Amino acid sequence: MPHTLITGASMGIGEAFARELASRGNDLVMVARSEEKLRELASELHAKHGVDVRSCRADLNDTAAPAQIYGYCAENGIDIGLLVNCAGLSRAGEFRELQAEKLDEIMTVNMMAAARLSRLFLPDMVTARKGGIINVASLGGLQGVPGLALYSATKSFLITLSEALHAEASKSGVRVLAVCPGFIDTGFLERTGHNASGIRLPIYGAEKVVKAALRGLENNRVRVFPTPLDGILAFSQRLASRKFTVRLSGLFAGIVRG
Ligand SMILES: NC(=O)c1ccc[n+]([C@@H]2O[C@H](COP(=O)([O-])OP(=O)(O)OC[C@H]3O[C@@H](n4cnc5c(N)ncnc54)[C@H](OP(=O)(O)O)[C@@H]3O)[C@@H](O)[C@H]2O)c1
Repeated sequence: MPHTLITGASMGIGEAFARELASRGNDLVMVARSEEKLRELASELHAKHGVDVRSCRADLNDTAAPAQIYGYCAENGIDIGLLVNCAGLSRAGEFRELQAEKLDEIMTVNMMAAARLSRLFLPDMVTARKGGIINVASLGGLQGVPGLALYSATKSFLITLSEALHAEASKSGVRVLAVCPGFIDTGFLERTGHNASGIRLPIYGAEKVVKAALRGLENNRVRVFPTPLDGILAFSQRLASRKFTVRLSGLFAGIVRG
């Protein structure tokens, strides 16, 4: 049985993917920097569900990390049947105030790592004529979000990459999707300097994102919106001007004033 590789599995949405997939009997490779958290989660999931769970410490801000992760799997004879690109970070505030180092880190982890891992693992899936990739994007990736400019641009990248890979891989039986959550209660918002009290949308749990993404994979969807409201917001974009949509997204995120 192939393993599922999850980046950002040490907490939040990635951890929720690990918990759900382990409970469904999937063997896992979990990637993050927090080695201790990964080890504890791995032994808990193994004890509860009897699945094989490997911890693979990696800093995805290092551009060599994806190839090292691929090498780790190859050396240990681990086939990856599902790749979940979940690791990500953000920094709330005006783009002109974003530090250069943070700018590079956001682009490297959110885009480069996901693209490189997909490029490394996809050929084996195509050869096996099965498998899947779930990219954890965001509703914020459907348009530029003032106050989250770079973050929203990286999530747009993930959505368009997923759409194209979905089409390229479809003939081989490999499934690729982008899941586009709204605001999720993981501590991510606090960590990114986002004042959650300004947010004008419901904040919901990571489990909803995971269940919707896995259902989307079963149904071979290309974009997945975890709640009906997310779907309505995505659809309503088609009816409004781009300028209005961008402005509204900034107001919903509660970072910039209208
Ligand atoms: N929370 C939200 O409101 C929300 C909404 C839409 C989309 N998302 C997206 O969902 C994904 C997960 O978000 P979350 O809310 O679960 O965030 P989180 O709780 O902050 O978790 C982020 C995960 O990414 C890992 N990570 C960050 N930098 C890394 C690096 N350099 N190398 C390896 N791993 C790294 C972290 O692990 P270590 O720190 O241990 O390395 C952690 O496991 C992100 O891509 C985020 O953009 C979140």
